[in-house]
Amino acid sequence: MRDTSLSVAVLLLSIALASCGKKESSTSVAPPLPTASQGDVDFTRLKKSAQTGDDWMVNGRDIGGTYFSPLSAINKSNVGQLGFAWDYKLGTRRGLEATPIVVDGVMYAVGNFGHVYSVAADTGRELWTYDPNIDGQYGRYACCDAVNRGLVVWKGKVYVGALDGFLHAIDAKTGAVVWKTDTLIDRAAHRPYTITGAPVIAGNVIVIGNAGADFKGARGYVSAYDLDSGVLRWRFFTVPQDPKLGPQDQPHLIAAAKTWDPRHRWEFGGGGTVWDGMSYDPDLDLLYIGTANSSPYTIKDDGRRGGDDLYAASIVAIHAKSGEMAWYYQVVPQDQWDYDSTQKMILADLTIAGVPRKVLMQASKNGFFYVLDRTTGEFISARNFAYFNWTKGLDPKTGRPSPNVAAEYVNAPKVIFPSAAGAHSWQPMSFNPETGLVYIPAAEAAMVYIETQKRPAGLIEGNFTVAGIFPQGYDPKSLAPLFGSLPSKSALMHGTPPSLNKAVSVLKAWDPVKQQLVWERPSGAFWHGGVMSTAGGIVVQGNAAGMMSIFDAATGEVLKTIDVGTGMMAAPMTYRVHGDQYIAVMAGYGGATGLYSPFPPDSAPYKYANEGRIVAFKIGGGPVPKPDLVTDAPFSDPPPREGKATDIAHGEILYNRFCSRCHTMGRSVLPDLRRLSPATHTLFYQIVLEGIYAPQGMGRWDDVLSRKDAEDLHAFLIDQSWQAYTQQTAAH
Ligand code: HEC
Repeated sequence: MRDTSLSVAVLLLSIALASCGKKESSTSVAPPLPTASQGDVDFTRLKKSAQTGDDWMVNGRDIGGTYFSPLSAINKSNVGQLGFAWDYKLGTRRGLEATPIVVDGVMYAVGNFGHVYSVAADTGRELWTYDPNIDGQYGRYACCDAVNRGLVVWKGKVYVGALDGFLHAIDAKTGAVVWKTDTLIDRAAHRPYTITGAPVIAGNVIVIGNAGADFKGARGYVSAYDLDSGVLRWRFFTVPQDPKLGPQDQPHLIAAAKTWDPRHRWEFGGGGTVWDGMSYDPDLDLLYIGTANSSPYTIKDDGRRGGDDLYAASIVAIHAKSGEMAWYYQVVPQDQWDYDSTQKMILADLTIAGVPRKVLMQASKNGFFYVLDRTTGEFISARNFAYFNWTKGLDPKTGRPSPNVAAEYVNAPKVIFPSAAGAHSWQPMSFNPETGLVYIPAAEAAMVYIETQKRPAGLIEGNFTVAGIFPQGYDPKSLAPLFGSLPSKSALMHGTPPSLNKAVSVLKAWDPVKQQLVWERPSGAFWHGGVMSTAGGIVVQGNAAGMMSIFDAATGEVLKTIDVGTGMMAAPMTYRVHGDQYIAVMAGYGGATGLYSPFPPDSAPYKYANEGRIVAFKIGGGPVPKPDLVTDAPFSDPPPREGKATDIAHGEILYNRFCSRCHTMGRSVLPDLRRLSPATHTLFYQIVLEGIYAPQGMGRWDDVLSRKDAEDLHAFLIDQSWQAYTQQTAAH
């Protein structure tokens, strides 16, 4: 049987869109907790809170973004009694990636699309919710689910970027909008921008980036706004504009433009989007951003030689006052494997070779752990924390990778380590200054890259610009309709270490000074979530199987595992209210890893309804209540077949080009299109071509699909339903 769901289980990045089972989140107001300061946070308070730990005021808890808390009431010796305190249901079945913020007993959290929730941190009682009312068409431009990785609470306001590119400032006390501004350039052109990352405060401005470099048409930039008025103060582009449009518009781009092949396909926008991890050092007044891959991924086809493509796949420091570049460090020159350098960066003071250094640390998607001097951008060291074959190694003085021709896939598919999902991606890592270790949610996984332009699948417009398939799903026979002739799996895998034939998630404790592994623990399920550590000597992490594990920070021993029943990707956090310490996490599976392939049988969303919720834990709490059990209903009688064999074959290509990155054939975050109800069949063309489901994030596709295309898609889906139905009947 052709399993099309695997066909183009395309590049595991992250975005997608719609929410199901929405909660009507109009703004409802309830009295704040008596202790609440109404979200009044500033740098003085943030610095002070580094000692007490009652609050978790910013994404990484402190200015350094360490995801470390000095609280220790929950610790190594009593964590065995950790259990359920409360939960708060968000009314969504899509992926959740943000860490909640707590200020003076009030919790603020962001769910899908940019929905904001404010609850009492001791009970989970709702105070208010905020609906950003997005333009649902942008749901379509989300690569890896309608996720959001965090909000900012600052001087009485909550700042959040919504999926459709608007930045909202909300009154922290009431949930009422104060201002909202459009951060997208060129909105009328419908470029594939979305906001999925958290904004960051940099001096007197709030800075926000966006995503989109996986698709055609996004040029990366960040924008800085006045905190009170929302007026644009400056904008920093990360990659040059098409030289044909005129001279480069910003000084740092003049040098950058020389590093791009003159024949670069500028209609792709150049990429280098800033979709996650920004940080800010108030003492240096430097903002640090990480940039994504250049676009398209393949820079060497049609005889182009490629170039370094500055400042894609780079870490860039910007003077927050002026928006001018201070320094840059390119992590992956000539990136072709989607090795974004967008991972969250931790700022710390380390003594290296006897000298105190202000450093910036990043565990990159490319498998190397980087330590840079954050004042100057000087390369200090890098070492691989995961298996790699994309480079022959790094220059020990500069960190520049030496090219490996065997990793170029422009003429033939290649298996590359790490995968495009990264040896480490957006999932927060944690630095514990007491153990001196960084806890990295790492992945050992490869990906098969297939250049698609000259193959039947075509250049995947509206989808990733290169096909990436996990080796487990690589089957030349089933992929033939899309890609034509392909090498056998054994030929392709020749030379890769057999121990790495299966993708695994591993929590790694890393010494950033010695650049060496101290301990590692497999995380149980493949994909695990972000990490938090505390002065209680513990490391806390959830996984896809719905298990939250507490590890001994020194040894990696598993001290406690709690069955939450909901898959987790976000990093947990901790806080104290009325003298009691709590640990909380946003639980809800999805993102890149929940969309492109059906839920694996050992994952929580396979067993239980994937209901997004905030779950809080405390010492003495009981077992966590589980969501309802779910099973697949049998396939029912499909509608009559449509179309000729050639129409169905065409429909298959269109499905993989435009639909399969969100809809799999199997149970996952979004509907399996083989299971449409009779009523939905009737609405099919209105859904696909007119956008009647845009409010849920399913935008219209009539800009790239004709009525005939949609008919072929429908014919293909009905054919797939019949195949599943017939198989089911034969099995009984
Ligand atoms: C970026 C993600 C994304 C892509 C790509 C996408 N969809 Fe959807 N689709 C959605 C979302 C979100 C929903 C609404 C799910 C919900 O809330 O129930 C949806 C719903 C649907 C439904 C209704 C399903 C039901 O049972 O109610 C159909 C039909 C559908 N999509 C067809 C398509 C087709 C055909 C394509 C390719 C041309 C496509 N979709 C591409 C996200 C996507």
